This record gives sequence, C-alpha cells and structure tokens, in this order.
Amino acid sequence: MAAVPLIDVASVPPGSGAEVVADGRIFAVFNIDGVFHVLDGICPHAGGPLGKGILRGNIVTCPWHGWQFNISTGQHCLNQRLSQNRYEARIEDGKVVAEIG
Ligand code: FES
Repeated sequence: MAAVPLIDVASVPPGSGAEVVADGRIFAVFNIDGVFHVLDGICPHAGGPLGKGILRGNIVTCPWHGWQFNISTGQHCLNQRLSQNRYEARIEDGKVVAEIG
C-alpha cells in the first residue's frame, strides 16, 4: 500500500468533487457531508472526468454522457456489472490521502 496525498481538505467542501492528478493517475475526490471518497477519476465509458461530474447526494453523473456511479460503492447505477475502482481515503495534515494498493 502506498499513501498518495491528493488535495487540501479545504479545496473540496461538502457536496463537491474535484479531479486530481497524482502518482501518474487521475483521481476523483468527493466530499459527502464531511466524509471523503476517492474513485478512479476516468469514466469507464469513454474517459470522461468523473471528478468534474455533477454530484447529487452520493451519486456522481459523468459530465460527458451522463453515466452515474454510487460514490460510496463505485457501482454504476444501472449496470451491476460495472464498478469504478475506489480507494480508501483518510485525512492527514490537512490533505485527503488515498491508499493505493
Ligand atoms: S465518458 Fe462518462 S458517460 Fe461517457
């Protein structure tokens, strides 16, 4: 496991998300009621930026063609066979840190 610092906590207020490039990858970081979630930031449909998607509750809608994912599970909302990679997230020194396996 490697700890990858992603973004300042203050940069992602509750109810928002952000796209972060770190460790040679693109991550989507979301803050739901003060709890941070980190997903692979590349939409599996056609590579859209999930971190720039529209966030409603714990559902993010990809800004390119509207695929929706449950942020808490990574599960696609319509296709049970599709799941987005999730990473354990924690706060360290004011930053959101992802644990990359
Ligand atoms: S790239 Fe995300 S829905 Fe098409």
